[in-house]
Amino acid sequence: MASLSTAAPLAAIGEHVELFTVLDTEPTILLVDGVDLNRRVVKATLNTIGARFVEASRPSQAFQILASERIDLVVCDMFLPEVNGMEFCRKLKADRNTQLMPVLMLTSVQGSEHEVEGITSGADEYLLQPSHPSVLKARVLSMLRHKAALDSLDEVESILFTLAQAVEERDKCTSDHCQRLSYFSVELGIRLGLSRNELLALHRGGYLHDIGKIGIPDSILNKTGELNEDEWRVMRSHVIRGEEICRPMKSLSSVLPIIRHHHEKWDGTGYLDKLKGKDIPLLARILQIADVFDALSSERSYKKALTTEEACRQLEKEAAAGWRDPELVPLFVNMLESESDESRMSRNLRAMADGINQS
Ligand SMILES: [Fe+2]
Repeated sequence: MASLSTAAPLAAIGEHVELFTVLDTEPTILLVDGVDLNRRVVKATLNTIGARFVEASRPSQAFQILASERIDLVVCDMFLPEVNGMEFCRKLKADRNTQLMPVLMLTSVQGSEHEVEGITSGADEYLLQPSHPSVLKARVLSMLRHKAALDSLDEVESILFTLAQAVEERDKCTSDHCQRLSYFSVELGIRLGLSRNELLALHRGGYLHDIGKIGIPDSILNKTGELNEDEWRVMRSHVIRGEEICRPMKSLSSVLPIIRHHHEKWDGTGYLDKLKGKDIPLLARILQIADVFDALSSERSYKKALTTEEACRQLEKEAAAGWRDPELVPLFVNMLESESDESRMSRNLRAMADGINQS
């Protein structure tokens, strides 16, 4: 509880913090509490912050709301009907769709052991009630600001993905190249027993590996004849440009080696760093094989599509010539041949993508 001497400054903080200086839409707060009166008190305390409230008296009802509405903050009591607040919080944080949802847990039970239990269950903040109204307000506003910052990062990431697809369409005249590349790379990654994070990097790399081509002029990108040395220099720069575009996003750090090294060759004659053999990051080698296969088996304005079998034979030739990983190419070819039933392939790939999206 706030003492009398601190109440005035705290009230001032609460009154003068302007939520809309950082949020440009009305946030929605989900109040989860089995007691009507408690929900009313919290709502009354927060009624000046310009938020919309939705209420749930039970965790099952809260999950239904979370599945159907955009929520910015969950404020829940430690003691709930059905399952307690800690269990509710654990379930929330275990689900990929709600794991980043900020949770403020309220309780009237004193004791550090309860606080520790509340925090370890995944609650982002824990507040003993009754607290001074300004403390609750300030805590909620701070959590909403943090959520808004996370949302804007999310938006930046989806803008990057959209941009990457636009680049692919401009370059390769096909909108689903990224998707196929992503699926093939992930499928091979699964067969190699890679971790979820590595699979996620492959999934994202499928979309982002050529994002640096956004800075390459059409005259070079779409040139039908041979590129001269100056034009090649510009073309090769797409891996550095791509790395620079994605570097500020912490969540894309594991994709950077894919972007930088997806044009290295096994024998050291590729670019950017002329890496050789297993010095080339594994994820970049995987994505490269999927990329080459998809390019061979897709129609372009200047060439016809090879059949899957013809593209596989070409990949094997490139491995024999020293360009591609000689261990990964047979695995990739085997993967395609063992999945000759197209519908089975699509089903498996969809399941994999879902698996990754839930990781
Ligand atoms: Fe590339």
